[in-house]
Amino acid sequence: MNSLMSKKYQVAVDGFSSCGKSTLAKQIAQLLGAVYIDSGAMYRAIALIALRNNCVEKDSVNKDCLKPLVENVKIEFQPSDNHLILNGEDVELEIRGKEVASHVSEVAKHGFVREKMVKMQQDYSLTNSVVMDGRDIGTHVFPNAEVKLFLTADPEVRAQRRFDELKEKGMEQPFEEVLENIKQRDEADQNREIAPLRKADDATIIDNSVMSREQQLEHALQIIYVKLGEAL
Ligand code: CDP
Repeated sequence: MNSLMSKKYQVAVDGFSSCGKSTLAKQIAQLLGAVYIDSGAMYRAIALIALRNNCVEKDSVNKDCLKPLVENVKIEFQPSDNHLILNGEDVELEIRGKEVASHVSEVAKHGFVREKMVKMQQDYSLTNSVVMDGRDIGTHVFPNAEVKLFLTADPEVRAQRRFDELKEKGMEQPFEEVLENIKQRDEADQNREIAPLRKADDATIIDNSVMSREQQLEHALQIIYVKLGEAL
């Protein structure tokens, strides 16, 4: 694999909310020695800025309020634990909260937000091989990615996983509320005008409804080694 690793490559992991993209993408990045980028966390950070600066009125975004904040935003990932650092502040816990989850898809649909995030995401890949998870990575951010995976699972299974994850973090929410948020985001993400969530034609689908994390990783690695072997 050494000769393969000398060239920079991109692995895109797209899919629906809470279907284990970040767990899988992190594991892959670690095994390959690539940098993991959580693109969803970046949109969550913008939603947090919007909320903190009162740029969200009812359910819509005040663009004039948010635009200058997005133009000057600085987003970094702390290498030791992947925490998102927003303008110098660790906001990892806040971006996973209920408020951000219920506004992020509204914020993420705007062109000026997406353009800035996509540019930052592409820049991260200039100096590193990256494994990036999100909604539009294989279709828009890296249309020439060497590997494209598309993860999916039944909504109830996804809601249970998110419910367990929030509980573990001490941020418990009623199951029905978690399920409703997932369904709403699926709907918004698939139907927005710019870069909607969809499988890239050349992506491989992994339905992990009945797969353990270990089985999912095993399956993904088989695909990745074949694809990287062909491409590099
Ligand atoms: O982890 P979870 O599946 O809940 O979502 P996420 O990956 O943290 O993404 C949060 C939200 O950001 C999504 O529901 C999308 O609205 C938006 N997003 C996006 O528009 N494009 C991406 N590449 C990643 C996320």
